[in-house]
Amino acid sequence: MSTPILTLQNVCVSYGAVEAVHGVSLSVDEGEIFTVIGANGAGKTTLLNAIMGLLPLRGTMMFQGRAISGLSIEERVASGMALVAETRELFGAMSVLDNLRLGAWTQRGKRAGDDLEAVFARFPRLKERISQRADTMSGGERQMLAMGRALMSRPRLLMLDEPSLGLAPRIVGDIFKVIAALRQQGTAVLLIEQNARAALAAANQAAVMELGSFTSQGPASAIAADPGIIRSYLGLH
Ligand SMILES: Nc1ncnc2c1ncn2[C@@H]1O[C@H](COP(=O)(O)OP(=O)(O)OP(=O)(O)O)[C@@H](O)[C@H]1O
Ligand SMILES: [Mg+2]
Repeated sequence: MSTPILTLQNVCVSYGAVEAVHGVSLSVDEGEIFTVIGANGAGKTTLLNAIMGLLPLRGTMMFQGRAISGLSIEERVASGMALVAETRELFGAMSVLDNLRLGAWTQRGKRAGDDLEAVFARFPRLKERISQRADTMSGGERQMLAMGRALMSRPRLLMLDEPSLGLAPRIVGDIFKVIAALRQQGTAVLLIEQNARAALAAANQAAVMELGSFTSQGPASAIAADPGIIRSYLGLH
């Protein structure tokens, strides 16, 4: 059996004295998509930020078989983690091309040209706008650029915080196609989504987060078929 890419056991995250994530456990293998769905304020972003090292975390976290709690954010990126934050942080005054090139800093120039072509193949819109300033891009284009930049670091684990937020349905479809292609390529994906229906369809594992805890967890197909979850998160379609 291969080593999981990411394993969390009984992970807790606090803001000062207030605990926002209570004892979460999960495991994501190569080529798997694990999605976390849940209401606003459930603790989803907090969990991703803590995995990335932006917030301190208690409990056990293993990345590719190593305990990495002592690693800085930069070291985590260099070892194969990437986070596309809810805020889609970009270097606003810099061009599309320079934003993508900065995403490749962990590669030290190795094959960065090929990776750039791979990103343009996934997101042709970025190639058309190669010299446009990032802060003049539309919402959907910014999301593509943020994802493209994350891909330039060749992540083993790609964490996406609400990638479809505020995007038109066609662009959401494009983003989900890219996520599916990454999975085929063996990348592990940890996906947070308000669009629970699309996320559960794309993922193979899922958890429902409520008030900082996972209240249901299992195969995405089982979560998607759970009557209580359908009522609360999927509506009657
Ligand atoms: N910097 C902070 N300081 C104190 N509390 C915070 C901080 N950031 C978030 N919280 C609180 O932690 C809880 C979880 O927030 P979080 O942003 O993780 O939720 P979420 O599930 O991502 O919600 P959403 O779907 O709205 O993005 C919330 O009660 C929030 O108010
Ligand atoms: Mg959030």
